[in-house]
Amino acid sequence: MSDLDAFIRGIPKAELHMHLEGSIEPQLMLDLAQRNGLKLRWDTAAALRAAYQFTNLQSFLDLYFEGCRVLIHEQDFYDVTAAYLDRAHQDGVTRAEIFFGPQSFTERGVGIATMMNGILRAIDDGARKHRISAALLVSAHRHRSEADALALLEQIVPWRDRVVGIGMGGAEVGNPPSKFENFFRACRDRGFRTTIHAGEEGPATYVRQALELGVDRIDHGISCLGDPDLVRDLAERKIPLTVCPLSNFRLKVVPSLAQHPLKALMDAGVHVTVNSDDPPYFDGYVSENLIACQRALDLSRDDIVTLARNSFKAAFISPDEVAGALAAIDAYVANFR
Ligand code: HPA
Ligand code: ZN
Repeated sequence: MSDLDAFIRGIPKAELHMHLEGSIEPQLMLDLAQRNGLKLRWDTAAALRAAYQFTNLQSFLDLYFEGCRVLIHEQDFYDVTAAYLDRAHQDGVTRAEIFFGPQSFTERGVGIATMMNGILRAIDDGARKHRISAALLVSAHRHRSEADALALLEQIVPWRDRVVGIGMGGAEVGNPPSKFENFFRACRDRGFRTTIHAGEEGPATYVRQALELGVDRIDHGISCLGDPDLVRDLAERKIPLTVCPLSNFRLKVVPSLAQHPLKALMDAGVHVTVNSDDPPYFDGYVSENLIACQRALDLSRDDIVTLARNSFKAAFISPDEVAGALAAIDAYVANFR
């Protein structure tokens, strides 16, 4: 490992765009299937990993939703959350804001309390074990109706104190942010922070719509580069983009990492952060995303520090917590040998 790779792995960082259901490692998926008496289409972890070849977002979502079937009992939700937090801790993650989409499970009869209790218990144990601060972002499916999203919002209101924000993922093209105007207003009225996937496969107009919804962050957002006025507005309004480079590459949103717009967005003054999205599916946790981008885009050590600082400044944490995290980065940089 080069010095710069070690520097990247160790620097304190926040991960703000990672889907719990997309973090199930192949072996854990097989173990959970066996524990729950389910038969998967694959018998080995290697065979499952080999199936992670995608042509676009939908080809990934098909496999992702299929994988969700293995999560049924509270302990299953605990185990997948604990495994992610253990792995994130090794990557220098000290703050994790984890997306979770209950609709995949409620439609199969899994109770909301079953999921929440398992995930939140693992988050509490992770705080004790690793001193990692983790929080939940409940994610609604945009390929379902706005009424479904509003029903989900009502279901999670009892967990208001443990859900830091509400997001939205799923099949983007044909399901623009404007479809969920009432939903995002309702989320804000109930005191939740908000974020939405936009501009991953969808055009710059979807990113513009997301901005007009008044969300606190935009997930992906990279198609904004097609609209210079929009790029300027994102920079001026300091709306963070949670960018996921290996995801974009593996879903063929960009032809190569060398052509990824991450650096162009940084140079344009946009507040970008680097994240893993669905790490085993896209073959990389957050540090691997940063290391791959450093190589492909020739990022400097200062660029890495900027990205780490951006991750905490974009997090849904208090100003004191941001200041503490930035001081930890300064100390890390000063002491790194
Ligand atoms: N886009 C949309 N939905 C998702 C994604 C994504 O990148 N990852 C998990 N669900
Ligand atoms: Zn995502």
